[in-house]
Amino acid sequence: MINLDLTNLEKIDPAHGISKEELSSKESLIPAYLEKIKNRDQGFYTVIDEEAPIAKIEEYAMKVRGKYSHIVVLGIGGSSLGTICLQQSLLHLYQNELKTTSAPRLHVLDNIDPVLLKELEDVIDYSKTLFIVVTKSGTTPEILAQYHYFRKQIEKHSLEPKEHLAFVTDPEKGTLRDIANIENIPAFEIPENIGGRFSVLTAVGLLPAKLIGLDIRALIEGAKEMRDNFLQTSNNLAFQIAAIQHTLGEKGKTMNVMMPYAQKLIRFADWYRQLLAESIGKKFNDAGEEVFVGLTPINALGVTDQHSQSQLYNEGPNDKLLIFLENKDANIDLEIPELYEGTTFKKLLDIELKATADSLTKNDRPNFKIQVESVTEESIGQLFMLMEGATAFLGEFYGINAFDQPGVELSKELTRKALL
Ligand code: PA5
Repeated sequence: MINLDLTNLEKIDPAHGISKEELSSKESLIPAYLEKIKNRDQGFYTVIDEEAPIAKIEEYAMKVRGKYSHIVVLGIGGSSLGTICLQQSLLHLYQNELKTTSAPRLHVLDNIDPVLLKELEDVIDYSKTLFIVVTKSGTTPEILAQYHYFRKQIEKHSLEPKEHLAFVTDPEKGTLRDIANIENIPAFEIPENIGGRFSVLTAVGLLPAKLIGLDIRALIEGAKEMRDNFLQTSNNLAFQIAAIQHTLGEKGKTMNVMMPYAQKLIRFADWYRQLLAESIGKKFNDAGEEVFVGLTPINALGVTDQHSQSQLYNEGPNDKLLIFLENKDANIDLEIPELYEGTTFKKLLDIELKATADSLTKNDRPNFKIQVESVTEESIGQLFMLMEGATAFLGEFYGINAFDQPGVELSKELTRKALL
């Protein structure tokens, strides 16, 4: 199970940190906030109890086993970042790229730069490629443009669209749903009450994950463990994180830096960046008053970014909360000969994490750690649910709706208008 190490927050000047007492004084808010979250009727923490969507994905994966050498996800934002995180956290860093495994290669096309599309075409064989079009709304211009382009290419190669396309979209509405119904294209659902950035544990993330051989049931099990914690009225980790973010936000720490000390978790920080930015950056509160709230998410990677960002974090404006992600697993380790005889790379990584956190603490820069026992499907499932829960609580702290994105919708609308 995930652990929070909050000790450094207590060691610093209370004007910049948060004491145990200050944090526990917030706990009385949990029941009311949980009630408010339930009233928002969001499915991100209940969808994991549904067996049918998982069974449908498994059945499809079984049916297409061995058929594709490339899986291409066409999706953006909440429809792509979770998948990228799953791929980068849970697959071998190099074997996948070098085609040394039998599983299909996964490519997530979350941009429309033609160079990206062209260079993808240089490596795929259309006859062995499945395009998964992921769009909740079915109206995102970038994804529709990609869909039409690749569909045309599939047809140009004299291939059957329904053999090379699968859709993940709204259960009833939208262009893709209509096309799926008419043409018998395999289609999976994103439940109506789950927004893009909260959808990784639906077919959005689970379908590509299953097709590249990940254990999606373990992912769901991890998420369920953390969901149970999210619904607790004490020792609630998601609530604690939100309370820290909000309290420190009020003390001027309006930037949240997520800094994994684990190569495989950097894409988790990317996924979280969107979750925090889109969920909490809001103009209006629940009462319709202008509030202009938000916390700015920043990503950094330990140790790499110690050599690019640490100076700023230690001595620049004291406006940041550092959230470290620590992987406790030392099963993969290598000894360092000569220079630091007797020590290992994992020990060095741990020493550097401690040194970074301690130097920040000495400079009264708030920081805490989220610790996982290892990077596995189960712990990634836990992490997704932990930060989704924290974001839901954070929305209640700010009195805003964490589940809409009117700003994004507006830019989509303007793009569509410009194309007419
Ligand atoms: O979180 C969100 O709702 C957004 O980031 C969407 O995921 C993103 O804009 C893509 O939308 P759609 O899945 O409708 O294509």
